[in-house]
Amino acid sequence: MTATPTTTEADGSTDASTRREADAQRMLAGGETVLVARGLIKVYTTGIWPRRRSLWVLRGADVDLGRGEIVGLVGENGSGKSTVMKILVGSLSRDGGTIERSGSLGYCPQEPILYERLTCDEHFELFGEAYGLGALEIDRARDEVYDVLGFGRWASARVEELSGGTRAKLNLGLALLPDPQILLLDEPYAGFDWDTYLRFWEITAARRDQGRSLLIISHFITDEERFDRIYDLRDGQTVPR
Ligand SMILES: Nc1ncnc2c1ncn2[C@@H]1O[C@H](COP(=O)(O)OP(=O)(O)O)[C@@H](O)[C@H]1O
Ligand SMILES: [Mg+2]
Repeated sequence: MTATPTTTEADGSTDASTRREADAQRMLAGGETVLVARGLIKVYTTGIWPRRRSLWVLRGADVDLGRGEIVGLVGENGSGKSTVMKILVGSLSRDGGTIERSGSLGYCPQEPILYERLTCDEHFELFGEAYGLGALEIDRARDEVYDVLGFGRWASARVEELSGGTRAKLNLGLALLPDPQILLLDEPYAGFDWDTYLRFWEITAARRDQGRSLLIISHFITDEERFDRIYDLRDGQTVPR
């Protein structure tokens, strides 16, 4: 088997990918690992003939996430960080590689997906119901998010009235709502003020201590010690730091 990814492998039908899947399942069965992604490939095709271009963004990226671990994914703008996360979440198709995970997943996209005309409260209600939570559970989780991230005074405000920072808090709060085993956060603190930034790290540390896992994308990392491990995304591959 060559090291170069082939299209056959992308179909998930070769010996190598079968072996990778078996390895991943063994790791998950051990209980210490909650997510194993191997050999992720993504090629974006843009333009129309004769100006069609293929952009190889991921060329065999691997991501492991352990139970009770905060892992960073760092890389330059355009290196493919969001692409990795969208593929892990399943909102974007991949051209190769395998993903195995155990446990529920929460996702905080880089661009908040919010409804301008709905209030913060209405967002929690809508997302909570979509997650299958009961009314009491939603209220409790919502109030905790307001409290921890400090934006309860915007509860009845429509998203169209919110600043970028408050939108970012709502975006994160909605990902926290169902209390997922695995939390994938795409540049979550880009719009935060300093206090919220510190709060953010308190929340993530508390989750880790409860055995939850987090993968956090950052454009650059100033607080390296807050992560258990860091991957640098370079030339379409993840390099452990
Ligand atoms: N839907 C798309 N179609 C074509 N190219 C894309 C698409 N999404 C992202 N890209 C390109 O892929 C590269 C990686 O994008 P992205 O994963 O968003 O990077 P990052 O999150 O690290 O900034 C960039 O060059 C970007 O322009
Ligand atoms: Mg991005």
